[in-house]
Amino acid sequence: MRHPDTISDDKLSEAKPPLRKPDEKIDTSRRGLLRGFGLASVGVAALAAGCAPAATEAAAAPAAATPPVDKSVAIMGANESPFGPSPKAIEAMVAKAALTARYADAEGEDLKAQVAAIEGVSPEQVFLANGSSPILAAFGEMIAQTGKGQLVTSIATYEGVPRAAGQYGAEVIMTPLTAEFGIDLDAMAAKVSKKTTATYVCNPNNPTGNMVDPVKLKAFAIEASKTAPCFIDEAYLDLCDDYAGNVMTGLVRDGHNVVICRTFSKIYGMAGQRLGYGIASPEMAKQMGMATRMGGVNHLGIVAAMASLADKSFVPAMQPKFKAGRERLHAVVKGLGRPIASNPQASFIFFDAGMPAKEFAEKMMAEGVRVVGRSWTQYDNWSRICVGEDWEMDRCEAALKKVLA
Ligand SMILES: Cc1ncc(COP(=O)(O)O)c(C=O)c1O
Repeated sequence: MRHPDTISDDKLSEAKPPLRKPDEKIDTSRRGLLRGFGLASVGVAALAAGCAPAATEAAAAPAAATPPVDKSVAIMGANESPFGPSPKAIEAMVAKAALTARYADAEGEDLKAQVAAIEGVSPEQVFLANGSSPILAAFGEMIAQTGKGQLVTSIATYEGVPRAAGQYGAEVIMTPLTAEFGIDLDAMAAKVSKKTTATYVCNPNNPTGNMVDPVKLKAFAIEASKTAPCFIDEAYLDLCDDYAGNVMTGLVRDGHNVVICRTFSKIYGMAGQRLGYGIASPEMAKQMGMATRMGGVNHLGIVAAMASLADKSFVPAMQPKFKAGRERLHAVVKGLGRPIASNPQASFIFFDAGMPAKEFAEKMMAEGVRVVGRSWTQYDNWSRICVGEDWEMDRCEAALKKVLA
């Protein structure tokens, strides 16, 4: 399944401008990749043998394993992390690469226990999948109830659950955004009825980037979940200014019919490795686990996820980078006088480009910057740009000043 953000990107990805100098080759050798991942100081032989790097080497390791750089296009379209995964995750994957011969059931149990301990739930309340997309899709299918279901959500939100629910015949009700481009929980609550089989809230929301008031979200989820499960997608929650004040796993702990969904694709920089998880009641977790398991979860994703969670310095090192990036993008676009969703709390901004999103994306691509190549219903002229590395941000700023002038 292709990532929704890349679905209409075909033309854009073909239209790469010739910005890479002929001598700027990407080193794809194993040593070159490790160097590119910021792991030059870690002995390849030691990694392959599963040995921990020497303490002195580990101390010198960078905060994140920056991906290899190809400067032909600044990739700012799909909400990946430009900063890469934790070096500890890379070490774990290299050390355990040979284990890919084995199914990962035992390691999966270990990861569930690790997540459960962090979240204060039991391991039976955690379920894993190859990324969070399979969880969203399975949930959408489940609540569609072969054509009898009804999902209540917002317009301009992440499409994983609504799309699957709709495909399996559910009625999908999308309430308008507030005047500040936020999810309108009051409007959603007003639509919940006996026919409703689920509600979906993405917080921070993709594409708007803003958050709902945590007190309101809690009240909404408690009330709505009396009728049907309330699914809260926390894919970007680690990136926001106040994680502790907004995290909703307490609702699951308190026994409400709430499903929390997380992914290692965003702050943990593992979009290509595929690992996501959900937290719910033991019954719901079992049901969702069976629906998403599909023969197991990938071994290297699990070991990388465990190493990432154990690397306690990683998230605090990444948070300021994303914050600085989204605030810079916001300031540039606001400075150009464009309407924009305020107070972005994830890894991207959402704004009115003043032209169809596809045209804007093509103009940005001509400047060597890939932004999202699609639009959202009723927001045809709005686009989303996600945080990049410093050189990408510089190129994007210059492009925005030209294209939006
Ligand atoms: C809000 C939200 N949830 C879930 C996903 C799915 O991510 P993944 O399948 O990589 O975990 C995305 C991807 O962009 C997202 O934006």
